Amino acid sequence: MLTQKGNSYPLKKSLRYLSIIMLFLTAIMAAKQRQSIEEWEKKTFLKQPPEKVMDTAGIKPGMVIGEVGAGRGRFTMHLARRVGPNGKIFANDIDADSLAYLRERCKRAGITNVKTILGEEIDPLFPKKSLDMIFMVWVYHYVKQPLPLLKNLPQSLKPGGTVVLVEPKPGLVYEGQDQGISPERMRRDAEQAGFTLVRTEKYLQEDFIFILHLSDQPVTFTQIPQIFPPTYTNHVGLGNFDGDGDPDVFVSFYGDGSNSIWLNDRK
Ligand SMILES: C[S@@+](CC[C@H](N)C(=O)[O-])C[C@H]1O[C@@H](n2cnc3c(N)ncnc32)[C@H](O)[C@@H]1O
Repeated sequence: MLTQKGNSYPLKKSLRYLSIIMLFLTAIMAAKQRQSIEEWEKKTFLKQPPEKVMDTAGIKPGMVIGEVGAGRGRFTMHLARRVGPNGKIFANDIDADSLAYLRERCKRAGITNVKTILGEEIDPLFPKKSLDMIFMVWVYHYVKQPLPLLKNLPQSLKPGGTVVLVEPKPGLVYEGQDQGISPERMRRDAEQAGFTLVRTEKYLQEDFIFILHLSDQPVTFTQIPQIFPPTYTNHVGLGNFDGDGDPDVFVSFYGDGSNSIWLNDRK
């Protein structure tokens, strides 16, 4: 018997060789898998150029972004580089294996600003009120319960936060069903989830880019309707909160250096 004293050494040696061969084969298979995934990604980027898509979405250095359905990180890597060391990506998926691949991929690329989150079917489990943007590519048409998922997103956004979705245009038929998302469908779903569809970009060959804003955004100072010319007393009229077209708040600067804020409640 091989395990008898005197014969155990060749068995140990063979097992060691076998495990080295197994490790070697596993490494070759992993490298081949990586290569085919990343080659496929390159092809997809011909139709969804990541830099252009990120420009359209308004992604900038320092942003904190939640990516729903990040998968193996096709877009995540680009997002992470764009937001840079002062930004962060929370990469969500419900598939643990894809997230494990993504973590390993980030490690390989020296990317340290990505945190993976294993989510639930209708809740990505992002931290609350912390995201500048939620981004998803080829996810909304794919998930089982898109509207309940969309309804769970506002709680994670900071005030003024946006949701950007890249989704196939109608006409993409798979298993006898049109997988595309029309702007009408997106508008309806967005409204039910507390968002407004503010823009639909159509320039990609096969996909729409939908940009949603939270519906209850406060009126911002970019909506200043009236600035009086400089006089001894300057008044700046701000906002149109009641929708009557007139400024509702005035800030007055007086010649003696004092100032006041007053409400214009005349209808
Ligand atoms: C078509 S893939 C797109 C992956 C990646 N965004 C891309 O563009 O390459 C769809 C991804 O959504 C994930 N997914 C499916 N249902 C989900 C859900 N309810 N929440 C989060 N991710 C989900 C899948 O596991 C898969 O990784």
